Amino acid sequence: MNNDILKTLYSEQDIADACQRLGAEIQAEYKDRVPVAIGVLRGAVFFMADVLRNADTYMETDFIDVSSYHGGLASSGTIDLVTDISTDISGREVLLIEDIVDTGRTLKYLIDLLKQRGASDVKVCTLLDKPSGRVVEATSDFVGFVVPNEFVVGYGLDYKEQYRNLPYVGVLKPEIYSTN
Ligand code: IMP
Repeated sequence: MNNDILKTLYSEQDIADACQRLGAEIQAEYKDRVPVAIGVLRGAVFFMADVLRNADTYMETDFIDVSSYHGGLASSGTIDLVTDISTDISGREVLLIEDIVDTGRTLKYLIDLLKQRGASDVKVCTLLDKPSGRVVEATSDFVGFVVPNEFVVGYGLDYKEQYRNLPYVGVLKPEIYSTN
């Protein structure tokens, strides 16, 4: 799998440092309150586990699964709710945990949905922010790295459902796209 990677963008150490920084920010933000942290499947699983273990504060956790990419390189534009949360979030503060914000469509869909359900506040923590891809307005409160306009894989991010288990974030060799 490592042989498919052209270059590393963020190493394991870079990511560990970012998780420590973001965990401290989250800890300070929610001091004395108990938010519900909601991870967006499947990409945010690795990041969520690491960042939240760096936040010494009370919280509940849940997951939601939405799909927009259908395994390829470009967003389809329509968001499907695949698996819902089971927590009643009415009147609760929510911290959404995302792997990457690209067009912003997924984030907007999720924020609207959670507010409709009565969340009193929705904040966003994302490992990566790709502002050059933005189609709808979407801002995050806690950001690991601002990424250039490249398709990235690893540490939760996939190409055709693979490469999520790479421990770092990198760019695939061009021939991987042409042969797959
Ligand atoms: P958005 O709705 O376009 O902001 O896309 C959000 C979702 O698209 C993310 O949660 C990822 O699953 C996927 N995505 C966007 N950019 C990339 C990328 O560079 N690599 C892998 N997945 C991506």
